[in-house]
Amino acid sequence: MTSRTAHLPTRSVRYLEAGEGQPLLLLHAFPFSADQWLPQLSRIPRGWRAVAPDLRGLGGESPGVPPGDTIGMDTYAGDALELMAHLDMPRAVVCGLSMGGYVALAMVRRSVERISGLVLADTRAAADSADGRAGRERMLALLGREGPPGVAREMLPKLLSDRSRREQPDLEDVLKAMIEANASEGIAAAIRAMKERPDSMGILGRIACPTLVIVGKEDALTPPAEAEILQRGIAGARLHTIPGAGHMSNLEAPLAFSSALEGLLGAVEPGRA
Ligand code: MLT
Repeated sequence: MTSRTAHLPTRSVRYLEAGEGQPLLLLHAFPFSADQWLPQLSRIPRGWRAVAPDLRGLGGESPGVPPGDTIGMDTYAGDALELMAHLDMPRAVVCGLSMGGYVALAMVRRSVERISGLVLADTRAAADSADGRAGRERMLALLGREGPPGVAREMLPKLLSDRSRREQPDLEDVLKAMIEANASEGIAAAIRAMKERPDSMGILGRIACPTLVIVGKEDALTPPAEAEILQRGIAGARLHTIPGAGHMSNLEAPLAFSSALEGLLGAVEPGRA
């Protein structure tokens, strides 16, 4: 596994890379970084090249986002497609968890033909409800008052299952450190992007590539009912529920997540990615 920097025409982006072969793009959740994918990057199946970028404005080494810069899910999707082109990946299997899933769906909206397989983990197709949007405003206010530590305090109780909290007591510290390494501007931009993201129910019918929906059975933020909606909306999609895991299923149950991911990669036609 190597940490690299891509120097794109408009900005530089840090990404983690492991393996060689067909392209796999890993998109992280809010408000984390590429480091969220370390457990998967350490066990990428033979024949696959995985790339996990920091989303714009997030990641410890990120320069942040200029104040007032408006970012939407479409911005992150454009960034991901630009990075793919830079890395000579015309198509890729795209795996996004939570906000990473919102970005993956924005990539579907923009350039579905560049996605050879799709993994939507602990995420949803619907836009924010009125309550959800009000919650985003509260989170922005909290971020303004207390910075990233306030966001970490608010989010941590919702991210892990009871079992993970009991059996992996260090995991909360790992998540806290990742959240607090981010700049406030990047976190604020992501909150606004999630609040304004469009509903993606209407584009699920465009997805024809092998698709896997993964959800932690105890996910409190994007519960299994949301995963079922995604699976029903995407022709041929399979659903994999991970018992004992919450919202951060790839970190809580890394082996189960990686083996489900490997199953999906096996369903992608060789050479199609
Ligand atoms: C995430 O995990 O990316 C976020 O919690 C998703 C959200 O808040 O909608």
